[in-house]
Amino acid sequence: MKVLIHQTQATAADCVAGLFADRLARQPETVLGLATGGTMEAVYDRLIARFEAGEMSMAQAQSFNLDEYVGLSPDHPCSYWHYMREKLFNHVDMRPEFSFLPKGDAQDAEVEATRYEAAILKAGDIDLQLLGLGANGHIGFNEPTSSLSSQTRIKTLTRSTREANMRYFDTFEDVPRLAITMGIGTIMRSDEIVLLAFGAGKANVVAKMIEGPISAACPASILQMHRKVTVVLDEAAASAL
Ligand code: GLP
Repeated sequence: MKVLIHQTQATAADCVAGLFADRLARQPETVLGLATGGTMEAVYDRLIARFEAGEMSMAQAQSFNLDEYVGLSPDHPCSYWHYMREKLFNHVDMRPEFSFLPKGDAQDAEVEATRYEAAILKAGDIDLQLLGLGANGHIGFNEPTSSLSSQTRIKTLTRSTREANMRYFDTFEDVPRLAITMGIGTIMRSDEIVLLAFGAGKANVVAKMIEGPISAACPASILQMHRKVTVVLDEAAASAL
């Protein structure tokens, strides 16, 4: 595990965008694994800036997002589909027909999860996976106690995760209780992983992830077993290491 500590969030996000741009330059048809959440907004801003400056193209890449809320259609303003269009897809040359998220409004969410896992396998798995970190150690929506070899499936969100994501919804009750998420096993099959975390609020969980025992109590700790992980932090997120 390589840990890079930056003085500011801006330089940390730029570093992650640089890792993406380098991989895309080496392998234009990269299969990207994409993430949502507040932390990723700075990364997507930097990727858009690189695209607009003619320094990077995503025209031959494919992407699979980590997760989506069960019950929200792609057009719902709180869906991750909507987030990705607003924050990235509408501003770069990514082909819409090669940008995938689980369908939150599928008739049968279990069937959809199985279909999504099969689609990732068919694409040859993720080449470069971007991850954020939940305050409770989740990656994607793999909440604590998730099986460390899990595949894409439905997860029940913890109260603390629903509270953390409440800022995007009108009321707490509006935050969905279920999500379709890539499994921890799915994420671990990625060729390369980049995890980004900001702020003092994440410092304790960052320390558990990097220095703690590998345990389903902190799902991100399994990344210690991956052969090519880069953790990018600002100083505040690194302050408990
Ligand atoms: C959500 C997402 C995760 C993300 C996490 C952290 O729960 N499903 O993929 O890592 O939020 O979000 P933030 O960056 O807003 O702290």
